[in-house]
Amino acid sequence: MNRRENGMTRRRFLTYTLGGTGAFLASVTLYPMVRFALDPLAQAEVESAFVDVGPVDQFNETYKLVQFFVKRKDGWYMPEKGLKMAAWVRRSASGDILALSPICKHVGCTVKWEGHPRFKNEFFCPCHFGRYDENGVNIPGTPPRAPLDRYETKVKNGRLFLGRVVPRRG
Ligand code: FES
Repeated sequence: MNRRENGMTRRRFLTYTLGGTGAFLASVTLYPMVRFALDPLAQAEVESAFVDVGPVDQFNETYKLVQFFVKRKDGWYMPEKGLKMAAWVRRSASGDILALSPICKHVGCTVKWEGHPRFKNEFFCPCHFGRYDENGVNIPGTPPRAPLDRYETKVKNGRLFLGRVVPRRG
């Protein structure tokens, strides 16, 4: 019985061998790349801890910018002090607290309270003239398509704590 009768020609043998070797080499090469690209998603850390940002009575009805650090990875990088975060915080006369992310919902520049002399009582994003009202809601006709994200807040022993950043619907 020759090889042809056996169903295995030299050409077929080489095709299987080279194909198998190629597939093996491709998987060995691609697996680390894919894993590296997806690692932050696979290990997404949900920051649930609240961070103390100071006495609650430092805040009033005018927005104040607070900066703080949270222990969280930024992609693949874990800064030693933690990740630097910021929030625009105000406290109403009745004690309601609103803490907003300063990250613009258009493409991520930093917004500033009353950041443009023409737009009083608004947040302003200098990158593409994005505007948000006093509650952080995007103003129609400007580039942002959603309100500024909001921090979870809690007050304990006279101090304000900020938690997760929660997106809001536009
Ligand atoms: S990034 Fe803020 S308006 Fe474009």
